Amino acid sequence: MTDVEVLSDAAVLIDGDRIAWVGSRAEAPRGGANVVEIDGVLFPGFIDCHTHGVFGAPRLDDQERRALGVDYKAIAAAGGGILQSVRDVRGMSEAQLEALTRSRLETLIAHGATTIEVKSGYGLELDAELKQLRVIRRLSEQLPATLIPTFLGAHEVPPEYRNNRADYVQLVCEEMLPAVARESLARCCDVFCEPGVFTVAESRQILTAARRHGFAVKLHADELEGSGGAELAVELGALSADHLAAISDSGIRALAASTTVAVLLPATMIFLGKRSQAPARRLIDAGAAVALATDFNPGTSPTVSLPLVMTLGVSQLGLRHAEVVTAVTINAAAALGLAADRGQIAAGCVADLIAVAVDDWREVAYWMGKDVVSAVWTAGSACPA
Ligand code: NIG
Ligand code: FE
Repeated sequence: MTDVEVLSDAAVLIDGDRIAWVGSRAEAPRGGANVVEIDGVLFPGFIDCHTHGVFGAPRLDDQERRALGVDYKAIAAAGGGILQSVRDVRGMSEAQLEALTRSRLETLIAHGATTIEVKSGYGLELDAELKQLRVIRRLSEQLPATLIPTFLGAHEVPPEYRNNRADYVQLVCEEMLPAVARESLARCCDVFCEPGVFTVAESRQILTAARRHGFAVKLHADELEGSGGAELAVELGALSADHLAAISDSGIRALAASTTVAVLLPATMIFLGKRSQAPARRLIDAGAAVALATDFNPGTSPTVSLPLVMTLGVSQLGLRHAEVVTAVTINAAAALGLAADRGQIAAGCVADLIAVAVDDWREVAYWMGKDVVSAVWTAGSACPA
């Protein structure tokens, strides 16, 4: 992950939506049509491989209750948390939800994210889940970034199934997954596998059904209390196991021996006021591939900035500058199954690029919270500022 190649006085040639050539400016092929000079550092477009970008109102009361000492799970048990956003999303029109989501995703793009995974999971009933996924589909046609939709119907057990959770798992497997598959509304399926939310057995049941319908699988695993989520992700051949602040030693070994990417979300633990973080260094030393993402959501991580997350990757996870760059580019692409042609400035890759207004490339993870991204190109075209 430290193997990052940095070129000075470089040039990139773009042909259509792909990168055709990269190398020293002196050796660049002449005669390009549309030459753009860049002041600063050109990075591959950043890839935000974990967001819950479709939601209604911010959860300010949860934030204040946490400040006063009530913890995330207690707030959720009292009807706040995810279920608060579920009531909100169920009550919104598709058009309202689309307008809110559009402006939020535009802000993520302005902060350098050119590929963004977006989960459903604030509907928890068929119509409201489909409503979120249709919003993602429409925005993927309108916004300049690539959006990767993920079905997260198993984000929480909805109130109407509190006393018969097995029936909700069955509903997800037998009605929701087939409906989402029929309309090709999602590429991946995710489950919040956590004590008090979905068990390992329930998560296995849902993700096994998801694989049968052709979805790639991902897992919210071992976020707050460990339950063997990382091991389950590996067992299922998941693209990624995400969070991992409470991963076990056997979970680390399992990820290290697999192609499942460990997606770490340091902003979440910071926003929740927790002192623990995922064991990033131990994961890397063991041989696991680590990616970073915002986890952009209204409850635990309302940040739109991958550069901020990179700063936290250095300060909270003990990663090196080169490692946080790898973590939001090629490794984040791998967490979405897109590493063949995204996450690098290399011939043949999609021409998603960002300019960062700094002198030294390491400053992208230094100016904590500053908006350092000065220009964004996706598929070879400049995005509106
Ligand atoms: O990734 N952990 C579960 N899901 C989100 C939180 C969503 C919410 O609280 O609304 C997360 O942290
Ligand atoms: Fe999440």
